[in-house]
Amino acid sequence: MNQIKWKVLVFLLFSIPIYYCQKETINYESLAIQITNKAKSNLQKKLSAAMSEGGTTSAIPFCQQNALGFTAKMGQANNVTLKRVTDKPRNENNLLSPEEMMVFQEIQKQKSSEGVFPNRVFSSDDNVTVYVPIPFMGHCVPCHGKKEEMTTETKTTLNKLYPKDLATNYQIGDLRGLFIVIFKK
Ligand code: HEC
Repeated sequence: MNQIKWKVLVFLLFSIPIYYCQKETINYESLAIQITNKAKSNLQKKLSAAMSEGGTTSAIPFCQQNALGFTAKMGQANNVTLKRVTDKPRNENNLLSPEEMMVFQEIQKQKSSEGVFPNRVFSSDDNVTVYVPIPFMGHCVPCHGKKEEMTTETKTTLNKLYPKDLATNYQIGDLRGLFIVIFKK
């Protein structure tokens, strides 16, 4: 009998901490990566469909009308707040807050020798916030690359729709922006 009690006690001593640890270790970072990968690939699919329909002259207005709404909806569908922000915005609603800017600059500085930017995870009592870098790639060049290499139609469309545009002159491998994913605990 005594031996059984011992076994129960030992079992409880080991299993209670395991139970609590498992409860605590929802992997917010990998959840955030799943959500942002979905958002990225959906945005890119929509963008290339608009590009093949009418080049940048139709894809730029398409982004203006849909990008923000699409990002917010993608967040709602996954029960998180999802934002796509940057230090040099095309749409000023996408400007980083001073606090977010500090994280952006930290991530920018920590680019690995393979050219990869790290994610960042911050936890408070109520929320977990995951910052996922958006690197600049080849197919972003037509709309965010060097101004002098842009087509005349692209420049005209951008000037008309975004007279205060800051989101040009990026090079491949730059940090273009961040996805911010906020989970409620
Ligand atoms: C067809 C042109 C076009 C292409 C190609 C394009 N973008 Fe954009 N991008 C835009 C427009 C237009 C906006 C502004 C959307 C808005 O008004 O909400 C934008 C906004 C953004 C933003 C939000 C911050 C801001 O500046 O307002 C990020 C981040 C971004 N683009 C990254 C990329 C990346 C990364 C790529 C390549 C994978 C890319 N874009 C390709 C046109 C383009």
